[in-house]
Amino acid sequence: MAKVTLKNVTRIYGKTITAVKDLNLTVNDKEFCVLAGPSGCGKTTILRMIAGLEKTTEGEIYIDDVLVNQLRPKDRDIAMVFQNYALYPHLTVYENLAFALKVRKYPKKEIESRVNEAAELLNISHLLKKLPKHLSGGEKQRVAVGRAIVRHPKVFLFDEPLSNLDIKLRLQMRTEIKKLHEKLQATFLYVTHDQVEAMILGDRLCVLKDGMIQQVDEPLNLYNAPDNKFVAGFLGTPPMNFIQVKIIKDGENIYLDEGTFRLKATGKIGQAVESFIDGEILLGIRPEDIHEKSSYTFGSLNGNTAALKVDMTEPMGPQVYLHFKTEKNNFTAAVNPHVQARANEVIEIVFDTNKIHLFDPKTDQSVI
Ligand SMILES: Nc1ncnc2c1ncn2[C@@H]1O[C@H](COP(=O)(O)OP(=O)(O)OP(=O)(O)O)[C@@H](O)[C@H]1O
Ligand SMILES: [Mg+2]
Repeated sequence: MAKVTLKNVTRIYGKTITAVKDLNLTVNDKEFCVLAGPSGCGKTTILRMIAGLEKTTEGEIYIDDVLVNQLRPKDRDIAMVFQNYALYPHLTVYENLAFALKVRKYPKKEIESRVNEAAELLNISHLLKKLPKHLSGGEKQRVAVGRAIVRHPKVFLFDEPLSNLDIKLRLQMRTEIKKLHEKLQATFLYVTHDQVEAMILGDRLCVLKDGMIQQVDEPLNLYNAPDNKFVAGFLGTPPMNFIQVKIIKDGENIYLDEGTFRLKATGKIGQAVESFIDGEILLGIRPEDIHEKSSYTFGSLNGNTAALKVDMTEPMGPQVYLHFKTEKNNFTAAVNPHVQARANEVIEIVFDTNKIHLFDPKTDQSVI
């Protein structure tokens, strides 16, 4: 078993820089947990505190229910893979892999067997005699992962391990890391600022901003039901549209009034916006949930259409992005590629009201 628990963990640098604030998170045994968020949100600091390379200012860190705050890094049974590989340049791949075991005075036979096992797992057996400077970026990254594997640690920490690789290699290594997790059946805590990588790799995904957790859940739950505007905008390409609308009551009906068009608020949306009548709300809708009218087959067209002028089109292959610009808002629809709309042409679009999100503009919190 290898579980990591952080309880009310805070890290303040100097007197004023709060890098991590009151963080509560449990990474379960054998879980692949991803920490994601923009630069400076505290991801590396969290890993370094778990590894024991950084002090916690407040709070407790447990590994398998043992409080480790006072344990030295080498006694924590954790291995960390860094972004910059951190290989010893004057040692061969074999010696790099063997280094941590040698320091810990493992018998030679045991070292040999663990190094060979890791090398085979990572497909680097043919590189064992080479020096790091004679390796490609992807090979160096494999060696860095191998150095963690040979230690058979309870927990693996990865700090943006793929960000120095070119895009093609990154996609390949991403798949390999996922397979590796399945093979090793170990606990992984993996940091990235790449939202696609985070969605694909994580059993669970923890989204951070300014040192604070915004939401933790399975990736698709975060995608479909974000708690706030930040999480909603962090996941998805192109990102979710945020459209400023006014809530108005007209006779018996309630509408989300954009100014240029208006959508009827029915069902749970109608209920959710009642307390916002005559006020503003932020309508969130993903580009793939705005359709061209003729290809919309998902439900009724009762008050959820708008005739709008296309500002610009971007053919992407599997989809076409249509950009719209009104007096108050800019937004994008990702529609079926057979749609032939051109810039300045007026087309009818449908907002899938089952997929609408609403955020309180004062708090940015989701209201449904
Ligand atoms: N040694 C330090 N002294 C002072 N401030 C620090 C130190 N290390 C980190 N910080 C600050 O703490 C915050 C969190 O830094 P951290 O490196 O954990 O962010 P990150 O999420 O890993 O960012 P990136 O994606 O750029 O790697 C930042 O504001 C950073 O400037
Ligand atoms: Mg970092």
